[in-house]
Amino acid sequence: MLKIIKHHTSVFCLAYFLVGATFISGCVSGQLGKNNSGEYRNGMVVSAHPEASEVGVAILKKGGNAVDAAVAVQFALAVVYPNAGNIGGGGFMVFRSAEGEINALDFREKAASSAGRDMYLDSAGKPIIAKSLFGHLAAGVPGSVDGMVEAHKKYGKLSWAAVVQPAVDLAQNGFKITKRQASELNSLHRDFMKFNPDGTAFISLESTWKENDLLVQSELANTLKLVQEKGRAGFYEGVVADAIVAEMQKGKGIITKADLQNYHSVWRKPITGDYRGYKIITMPPTSSGGIALVQLLQSVEPYPLKRWGHNSDSTVQVIVEAERRVYADRATHLGDPDFYNVPKNELLDRNYNTQRMSTFRWDSATPSSTVLAGNVKGKEHEETTHFSIVDRYGNAVSITTTLNGSYGSLVVVKGAGFLLNNEMDDFSVKPGAPNMYGLVGGEANAIAPNKRMLSSMTPSIVEKDGKLFMVVGTPGGSTIITSVFQTIINVIDFGMPMQAAVSAKKFHHQWLPDEVYTEKDALDSITTEKLKAKGYRILPRGAIGRVDAILKTKWGAYQGGADPRGDDKAIGY
Ligand code: GLY
Repeated sequence: MLKIIKHHTSVFCLAYFLVGATFISGCVSGQLGKNNSGEYRNGMVVSAHPEASEVGVAILKKGGNAVDAAVAVQFALAVVYPNAGNIGGGGFMVFRSAEGEINALDFREKAASSAGRDMYLDSAGKPIIAKSLFGHLAAGVPGSVDGMVEAHKKYGKLSWAAVVQPAVDLAQNGFKITKRQASELNSLHRDFMKFNPDGTAFISLESTWKENDLLVQSELANTLKLVQEKGRAGFYEGVVADAIVAEMQKGKGIITKADLQNYHSVWRKPITGDYRGYKIITMPPTSSGGIALVQLLQSVEPYPLKRWGHNSDSTVQVIVEAERRVYADRATHLGDPDFYNVPKNELLDRNYNTQRMSTFRWDSATPSSTVLAGNVKGKEHEETTHFSIVDRYGNAVSITTTLNGSYGSLVVVKGAGFLLNNEMDDFSVKPGAPNMYGLVGGEANAIAPNKRMLSSMTPSIVEKDGKLFMVVGTPGGSTIITSVFQTIINVIDFGMPMQAAVSAKKFHHQWLPDEVYTEKDALDSITTEKLKAKGYRILPRGAIGRVDAILKTKWGAYQGGADPRGDDKAIGY
């Protein structure tokens, strides 16, 4: 494994040297948008769906900037990638302007004003899992439309109508579903029937979907037209708000008109940190992702990962021990900063993280039970989506957005055609109780009215010498943080080009359960045996993350990394 990757790296490096020279001469002549290595210099969009990437690039070609393209892609994904793309959910944006201004937008959903700490517990105080996972009560107040309005108001260049139009067209005219989508929609047929007995666009009239079938979403097109005409009022007021409230009344949900009207996204100061001379710009709470990412990087920085090699036993051991400690902190200390005093400065203190690693011993795994007494569990779904965008000016946008579960709560708002999230499940439904998936949460993330639920989403941008270097992010629930972390070190420590860094096999540990999850072939058998001998429990699992990222080369070209684990696509020009 190690040998193969080293070989690839050196071959690519040589190619880049040559291509770099070609590119520079092309740039001088002003003719090249693309060079021979599939690198571009005018802009790039990498997203979970080819149609959405096309939309973003078309906006860039029209003279739109990265934020215009991001807004268009967010709305397009709500149509062509309804698993996670959304207007009924929320997300986070990290922005870096060509001049180096940085900003972060929190458009995470909020609990309704009548939400309560025990709303998902039965009379014996036990969590009723299905209630926070499915149906109307699982939904938080959606943030995506307000987020896009805010992002566009602050940084957009093209008209609002122009950036929403591609999504309207896709919903109205339909798009061809992928093989993967056909199979997902078929497998969810009964669930969609259960939560939407009057039918939805996701229920095939022929009862089964096939690859390349046209999915037309007329109700969603009308909603998007209202958003296009009226901005946030097209969603949080009027007929769409009426439809959401009617839906709530039908399914015993609790989102009110006032909740919708009062929803506002928040501009926050990004988390920044240094790693081996690179500056990491990432998402602050309400996501745990940014703090945890910087903690992980600080924890491993003293170790010679490059010398040890990618996924070697020493590299894996140090990373797992760092992850164990950082996820224990996450469980205890992170929640909505508007409700809970997150000890940000302490967690981001380099000495603190070095100190945490001082309890690690080479000869055996540190049992998680001795790292920190955690007694609260939360749970996270992995079906979020991420997209990365750069424009010709050098502006960069990193957005991760979600409905939480695949197709969220499975409730489609009748008459308005969009899925509601099931993000309430990202709260600690019962501080102190074990969860279904094993990720641990705490008091900091207990449910309260109007509070945002903790997330792991980690949209990030990396700078080198004051210049844009990388745009990166991924879905994957609790694995988001470790996936972004591994992608960054794959480039910085192991010298991988962007696509190789995204494709490389990953592993994951999250403190509890005390297990190392590995993708197929992530670790070779000798490495696995060495780690097992030290007490690590190594368990194979399916794909980890679905990273979409962009790297800016020394010669000013954009390299895309679209994750082969999905239908993801990098398109540049
Ligand atoms: N719902 C997944 C996350 O926010 O991390």
